[in-house]
Amino acid sequence: MKPFAISNALLGWYDRHARVLPWRVPPHDRKLGIIADPYHVWLSEIMLQQTTVAAVKDYYVKFLRLWPTVEDLAKAADEDVMKAWAGLGYYSRARNLKKCAEVIANELDGVFPSTEESLRALPGIGPYTAAAISAIAFNERAAVVDGNVERVLSRLHEITTPLPDAKPEIRAAMDNLTPDERPGDFAQAVMDLGATICTPKRPACALCPWTFPCRSRASGLAETLPRKAPKKTKPTRKGVAFIVIREGDGAVLMRRRAPKGLLGGMTEVPGSEWADNFDLERALDHAPLTGDWHKRTGIVKHTFTHFHLELDIYACKAPSGLAAPDDFWWSVPEDHASEALPTVMRKALTAGLSRKADRI
Ligand code: ADE
Repeated sequence: MKPFAISNALLGWYDRHARVLPWRVPPHDRKLGIIADPYHVWLSEIMLQQTTVAAVKDYYVKFLRLWPTVEDLAKAADEDVMKAWAGLGYYSRARNLKKCAEVIANELDGVFPSTEESLRALPGIGPYTAAAISAIAFNERAAVVDGNVERVLSRLHEITTPLPDAKPEIRAAMDNLTPDERPGDFAQAVMDLGATICTPKRPACALCPWTFPCRSRASGLAETLPRKAPKKTKPTRKGVAFIVIREGDGAVLMRRRAPKGLLGGMTEVPGSEWADNFDLERALDHAPLTGDWHKRTGIVKHTFTHFHLELDIYACKAPSGLAAPDDFWWSVPEDHASEALPTVMRKALTAGLSRKADRI
């Protein structure tokens, strides 16, 4: 089959089966000339990096409710943006999101650039996001390659080179298939195919609009592709987190992390460094104040991109009315939901507030 026929077969499928997503202009509306708002496309694509559609939906709706335009987002307090992002992970995305909104609002008159090259010059916009915005919001012909696209195209062309070495070949294949008309719909169609039919396990080849041209369907290799170079095993770091609960109002002691680096600018409960060789016997050396510490049963586990983390949790009571030490604040229970607490800190807080404790 010619590239044109292959992409057309998929666009026909997309016209019938496109997922309904809050940031998406459905194919029928697009054909009527309705175009996607670049602000919506940009926001959704930043949120969707390394994050599932299901996890993103509610955050996307909340952001648009809080900041309907890029100018609104540019004017928001950094802290409010971090609070609204809390739980979505990869927090440098939120910091860059704010910086990028400021550049667009203050230096570009609120207008997003349309070409991949000019988009890539903006904070937090890499090759994938630049191509996605350019194609989806501006109908520019750009080859959009994410993890779904890598899977679908490596199967279609039976590319057996393992990732990441296969990336240039896959990109060239996507470039070759991307049509001049409807490049944004085409990119989203490949993503939808990867999410609903050409799934990592047990792909539904019988329902696929590309059954006929798909080489790995013919050879039986589909489910084994894409091949991946073996992953490095992640180290496990350890540390301790302290939940100080003030009597009277039940407030918990919190502080802000340094602005740069892992979870930069997010809120945390006090704790130790996280280290490979952390000495759990000396956990209380790191406590923020002297008190009647109780070790909670169990440990909090969380996985980051480069390491697993295991935290011991200690809790203690502080007398009512105690002032917060410098750089800390007391957060009353009603405020916990709106604090900029990343998921690992929510787990620590929940564990610390639970009643199960080993006496020490
Ligand atoms: N994943 C990342 N961007 C997407 C989009 N625009 N549609 C569907 N899935 C996506």
